[in-house]
Amino acid sequence: MTKPVIDGGTTKTRVFKNFIDGEWVESASGATFEDRNPADTREVVAIFQRSNKADVDSAVDAAKRAFAKWRLVPAPRRAEMIFRAAEILGDRKEDHARDMTREMGKVLKETRGDVQEAIDAAYYNAGEGRRLFGPTVPSELPNKFAMAIRQPLGVCGMITPWNFPMAIPSWKLLPALVCGNACVIKPAEDTPLSTFNLVQALTEAGVPNGVVNVVTGYGPEAGAPIAENAAVRAVSFTGSSAVGRIIGTTAAKSLKPCSLELGGKNPMMVLDDANLELAVEGGLWGAFGTTGQRCTATSRIIVQKGVYRKFIDHFVARAKKLKVGNGLDETVEMGPAVNEKQLNTSLKYIEIGKTEGAKLVSGGNRLDKGEYQHGWFLEPTVFVDVDPKMRIAQEEIFGPVVAIIPCDGLEDAIAIANNIEYGLSSSLYTKDVNKAFAAVRDLETGITYINAPTIGAEVHLPFGGTKATGNGHREGGIGAIDFYSEWKAVYVDYSDTLQKAQIDRGE
Ligand code: UN1
Repeated sequence: MTKPVIDGGTTKTRVFKNFIDGEWVESASGATFEDRNPADTREVVAIFQRSNKADVDSAVDAAKRAFAKWRLVPAPRRAEMIFRAAEILGDRKEDHARDMTREMGKVLKETRGDVQEAIDAAYYNAGEGRRLFGPTVPSELPNKFAMAIRQPLGVCGMITPWNFPMAIPSWKLLPALVCGNACVIKPAEDTPLSTFNLVQALTEAGVPNGVVNVVTGYGPEAGAPIAENAAVRAVSFTGSSAVGRIIGTTAAKSLKPCSLELGGKNPMMVLDDANLELAVEGGLWGAFGTTGQRCTATSRIIVQKGVYRKFIDHFVARAKKLKVGNGLDETVEMGPAVNEKQLNTSLKYIEIGKTEGAKLVSGGNRLDKGEYQHGWFLEPTVFVDVDPKMRIAQEEIFGPVVAIIPCDGLEDAIAIANNIEYGLSSSLYTKDVNKAFAAVRDLETGITYINAPTIGAEVHLPFGGTKATGNGHREGGIGAIDFYSEWKAVYVDYSDTLQKAQIDRGE
């Protein structure tokens, strides 16, 4: 498909239409919305279509038609296209990282990592195209062959968040495509550009018209119709637990498989024997990387009493020195909140923390003077002496606000860590291998790190969590292939007789 994805590239502000069946299509209502740079809201990064059910339904129809042919393309051929897309993304990594920093604010170092994560996912899933293994097993009857093969589901719908604007769409689109599905994706309204950049690479790599369709807009208007459409055979959503519940309930009505990756309140535990400087460094990265806007962000730090004060002194001194600003400046360490709503959520929780009696020892204020006046900036914020039952220690904030909690030792730390509705990621700093393995066994999370913070998942291992973090599915690795394929058991009887399973036992 040779058409440029970027429509209006010669004008000052880029205008993107929906990408349906390989064509650029305006929203049915004609409405659009702006994507503004959160570091400087005077800049309109691009304009996108404000879509609704009519747009989604036409994208689903296109995907349904494209699926009829795509499912018959051999998986190794599909994989070659995905491999080629990885190479294209590699060539454009810097440009795509800059687009991403402009549309969502995180610093360049991190947006380069986000594009790299999509490249990694592309190489991984391209490899899977030659290994969509299924079991071949001996039949219980003579002259009968038994095996199971993976088949695509059909049209898959994806609703993706703004915090990993290329990585998370890649976690969903690439395994779906290699398995032979056709896709309709609705990226978050804050970050559609990065999804278009990913889809452009796939299109140039040879993925045919209609196999990947992009519809932009707001959740209730353009996301909900994806989950509701009976022709969509699976839906995958990453976002808040509140919205996940709605999507899961909607998907259940048409009995479609539904993968939900939801909230987190991820604990990092630091024991007395830990390498303290390493833990401080890890805590800063985990808590303030991506401005705290990761599902995996380190939002609780549980520290053993022997090193509690020292940890806080070092951590707070470093937090105060973090350079906040426009992520396009290579020296900046923390960018803005993605939008005003997200900033206000953090400010609301800072007030809640103060009212609950937690001690605010660093940050706590919006930055809005001088270089900050046109953006959604907030100081890195640290509360200490936090009671694990406080709301700031229980509820997902999704901002640069961390709660430090004292504990007596490993058992106490694990009890605090687990006493929460979420279960995405956890981490332990210790030099004691016995404690490390006990924690791996006992922490109720889908991901556990030893001597590293709660962030930094790699694409070939399962990503997801327990309890209110999800509904049992995993992204990444083979778990995603499992979600985007259905098993078909195949029996070939070459005996020329009627053989009755379980009955004709030759007894
Ligand atoms: C997310 O937090 O929504 O493990 C995704 C990490 C990243 C992905 C995070 N590789 O922090």
